[in-house]
Amino acid sequence: MNKTISTKKKIIIALLLLLLAFTIWRLLRPLNIFVVEDKFAYGLAVTIPKGLDSISAKSCGVCHEEIYNEWSESIHAQAWSDPYYQVDMKFEGSPPVCINCHIPLQAQREQIIVGYKDSDKLDPILKNNPDFDAQLQSEGVTCAACHIRDGVIIGTHKIDDAPHPVKQDERFLSQNSPCIMCHKVSGDRWDMFYKRPPCGTISEIAEKNLKADCVGCHMPETVRPVVLGGVARKSGKHLFHGGHTPAKVKSALSVDYRFSENKFNKTFTLTLTNSGTNHYLPTGTPDRHLTVDIKLLDADNRVIKEKKEKLIRNIIWRPFIFDLYDSRLPYGEPRDFSISFNNRGNNIVKTVDVTVKYHLLEESRRKRIGYIPTTPINYPIYQKRIDVP
Ligand code: HEC
Ligand code: HEC
Ligand code: HEC
Ligand code: HEC
Ligand code: HEC
Repeated sequence: MNKTISTKKKIIIALLLLLLAFTIWRLLRPLNIFVVEDKFAYGLAVTIPKGLDSISAKSCGVCHEEIYNEWSESIHAQAWSDPYYQVDMKFEGSPPVCINCHIPLQAQREQIIVGYKDSDKLDPILKNNPDFDAQLQSEGVTCAACHIRDGVIIGTHKIDDAPHPVKQDERFLSQNSPCIMCHKVSGDRWDMFYKRPPCGTISEIAEKNLKADCVGCHMPETVRPVVLGGVARKSGKHLFHGGHTPAKVKSALSVDYRFSENKFNKTFTLTLTNSGTNHYLPTGTPDRHLTVDIKLLDADNRVIKEKKEKLIRNIIWRPFIFDLYDSRLPYGEPRDFSISFNNRGNNIVKTVDVTVKYHLLEESRRKRIGYIPTTPINYPIYQKRIDVP
């Protein structure tokens, strides 16, 4: 009898130890958020189309000058050189998976992947790349990442008189396939428990039954020649504006406010609506967030009362990945922020000071990874002082 109990105990203790070891391993092992899809497994092998002597954006820019200039100012042109990306990647221990979307072409990589040691494809077998092109690497998400497949230029029109072959392609006619390729961290893995994946732009749109239409909003339509000396026609500006462009973020936010009163209190209510995107405001990496700061001021601008809110997606990464909460603004759903006061005593509220800020990342994270930005990591997108009626 005694003997069976002690065997049972031994088994339980062994299982508990195993569970503990497993949890510790989950807490210490390198964090893998990404699932490597087949299309990324070996990098895009792109050959130079007939009639051209290079695939670099610079070389395309000789003829497509205006588009080249737009693209070079865009975040895509900085997807590799971006100092935040570089610092973040090194902080994470330079996992091979990062280059999948930030430098997607084989020729952009010093080493190429010839196989994988693990089934998750997170541990590649590497070989030096004789075709490595440092200029192309610095171009990040370059023209070829979206426009070259199987040695031909993928375009939106049927064109026979270009100096390079052009294939009119469904991927482009449906318009958003190149965007969805990278702006999606897909992941059906046993250890992920969330409503939408991190960087869930695509799911955020799908949940509302809206059309992705990334191109419609991020490549605004214009009419112009698409090559030097060409005829003017419909064309998409290669701007890809987002969080790094305050005007773009401001265009997404509608602000309203009102005062109300009852027997005891006055209440100031601020209403924020994401009216200019069809994904969440903000979307993308969970670092991005908004803050709302409402201050009640007296006649001498002293703060009598303050309300601060953070609109952010909060994910627990370890030991398993799951959503804690998500307070960002879904498209078209007004959100109220109220603060009450009573103007009967000495502290008479004269004005309400409202600031809504956009943050590319948290100051604490910036410090932790040692990133020293040259441009602000947050900026106001709405600021107003309102007199109490
Ligand atoms: C020597 C000049 C030249 C160079 C270099 C060049 N192109 Fe073109 N490209 C053209 C011309 C001309 C057209 C046809 C334009 C038109 O029909 O209005 C064209 C058409 C295109 C189209 C199709 C547009 C559509 O509406 O479907 C795309 C996309 C394109 N080029 C991308 C590129 C990329 C990417 C590169 C670099 C890898 C490149 N081009 C290099 C001259 C050039
Ligand atoms: C090859 C991968 C790839 C493709 C294809 C791609 N993107 Fe991106 N995109 C990125 C990466 C990587 C970044 C972040 C770069 C950085 O900041 O380091 C980014 C950033 C952005 C941003 C953020 C800009 C900002 O200021 O915050 C927008 C908007 C964007 N892309 C739109 C698009 C659209 C629209 C398409 C389709 C036409 C597209 N992307 C296709 C990889 C890609
Ligand atoms: C109805 C217009 C609209 C559509 C459609 C749209 N966006 Fe946006 N997007 C915006 C606006 C406006 C912003 C700036 C506000 C913001 O920061 O979210 C933005 C911001 C972004 C950002 C920067 C991150 C951020 O939120 O600060 C990324 C990345 C992005 N969009 C990707 C996409 C992708 C990928 C698609 C397609 C699946 C898409 N967008 C569809 C309007 C749109
Ligand atoms: C992130 C993906 C992406 C990158 C990078 C990119 N393009 Fe495009 N490009 C597109 C999409 C999508 C369209 C279709 C736009 C539309 O339908 O309005 C397009 C359209 C074009 C067209 C056809 C005319 C037009 O404006 O619709 C040309 C020419 C072109 N791109 C050249 C270039 C060149 C040159 C570069 C590099 C300097 C480049 N593209 C970089 C996605 C990209
Ligand atoms: C599946 C494609 C993909 C992979 C893999 C990927 N990224 Fe990105 N990354 C993106 C896209 C798309 C954006 C733009 C969306 C955004 O900024 O919110 C981005 C944005 C970023 C940004 C923000 C840039 C800015 O200026 O705001 C950083 C930093 C970054 N990535 C680091 C990494 C690191 C480090 C890894 C590897 C651990 C990695 N990425 C792997 C697609 C990817």
